[in-house]
Amino acid sequence: MNQSAKLALGDKSAELTLRSGTIGPDVVDIASLYKNTGLFTYDPGFTSTASCESKITYIDGDEGVLLHRGYPIDQLAERGDFLETCYLLLYGELPTASERADFVYHVTRHTMVHEQMSRFYTGFRRDAHPMAVMVGSVGALSAFYHDSTDITDPHQRMVASIRMIAKTPTLAAMAYKYHIGQPFVYPRNDLSYAENFLHMCFAVPCEPYQINPVLAKAMDRIFILHADHEQNASTSTVRLAGSSGANPFACIAAGIACLWGPAHGGANEAALNMLAEIGSKDRIPEFIARAKDKNDPFRLMGFGHRVYKNYDPRAKIMQQTCHEVLNELGIKDDPLLEVAMELEHIALHDEYFIEKKLYPNVDFYSGITLKALGFPTTMFTVLFAVARTVGWIAQWKEMIEDPHQRIGRPRQLYTGAPQRDYLSVGDR
Ligand code: SDX
Repeated sequence: MNQSAKLALGDKSAELTLRSGTIGPDVVDIASLYKNTGLFTYDPGFTSTASCESKITYIDGDEGVLLHRGYPIDQLAERGDFLETCYLLLYGELPTASERADFVYHVTRHTMVHEQMSRFYTGFRRDAHPMAVMVGSVGALSAFYHDSTDITDPHQRMVASIRMIAKTPTLAAMAYKYHIGQPFVYPRNDLSYAENFLHMCFAVPCEPYQINPVLAKAMDRIFILHADHEQNASTSTVRLAGSSGANPFACIAAGIACLWGPAHGGANEAALNMLAEIGSKDRIPEFIARAKDKNDPFRLMGFGHRVYKNYDPRAKIMQQTCHEVLNELGIKDDPLLEVAMELEHIALHDEYFIEKKLYPNVDFYSGITLKALGFPTTMFTVLFAVARTVGWIAQWKEMIEDPHQRIGRPRQLYTGAPQRDYLSVGDR
């Protein structure tokens, strides 16, 4: 039964409905606030604002819990695989054996892109950041797949969803190959999703590419860890773009653009660059001091989170995966890993970080792992985008299928000039 909240506003008051979810904080429904009181709420960073109702992902920031359709991330990462997680995020349940086989069949056979897509790449400079190429190429998919852009058609929505999940790895691998001047490698239907991605990135025509099962498993797990994360900045971007009725390819391109920022998905690239800049353990105190200095814009990249005020559950699994990959590759005493582990130890015992509840997030160890897998830092956020595509598309689909869905149109607190009359240039 819904409770109510009374808002006293001077001589006015407003009765607001309280709503409860399955788990997590209740919400105060303020949809009628402006109509009834002429007042807006004000929350620029959305720190206290629920933008939607969703059944996909739940995060408990204080406890460091992340659930996808109710299943804990550590169980999905340890016992499942990425395409199974994609099915779960899209359809709400873990697939049966036949559902899984059918889903894998369809995703696998949508991994090729229209051959003319390759001409888009030749328009970019070779040294273009691969994220710039991804924003352009994913947005361009809507120029090729008109038959899955009618968002009112459930079949077209599902085809677009499968196409997005299937084609972003291919476009990402093409961005990498173009960046390094090697020929594109076509997808192979006999490989798993992660194996296929590694193959498209690292195979060359001159010799067979040997898939390392440990590295492929690590790649698959990294995809799982980055698949979805509630209403983060890029997912909110995709939802807002989709609320206007824009086609799914354009919405995902908007999500990729938002993810690029160093405060969000760009943090994995920034975190590795930071570890390289620190260089050795003895320089850590200097950077810790800079992170605490209010006058210094420097922040410890890979640390802190809007929601997690505890250890990011993904970071723990990421750290374990990092050690597995380095061990498999025989990389002993990686200087970046040594700096990362010492930095983490110092920060977790430092009053500033404890008081502000700053912990390593998913981006802190991913960079070291991805570098060990052979990717350049410029590809780190691209990999994040490949994994997050399923989360964006699942959230987009949930929004489109919500019968109460309307265009997102926030208001503002206006502090600009009051109305005034035009001045001709001689009177200014
Ligand atoms: C992702 O939202 C998601 O779910 C995102 C994500 C996902 O899966 O989609 O989890 C992926 O984006 C992870 C976060 C990656 N970003 C970084 O690692 C960049 C470094 N982190 C910060 O920029 C910051 O922590 C944010 C952006 C992640 C969170 O910013 P908030 O919530 O706006 O917090 P804030 O900036 O207000 O910080 C609160 C305080 C501030 O000090 P005061 O002004 O209160 O004195 O903590 C300080 C900040 O200065 N602080 C840091 C810090 N992060 C916050 N100080 C030093 N180093 C940091 N990293």
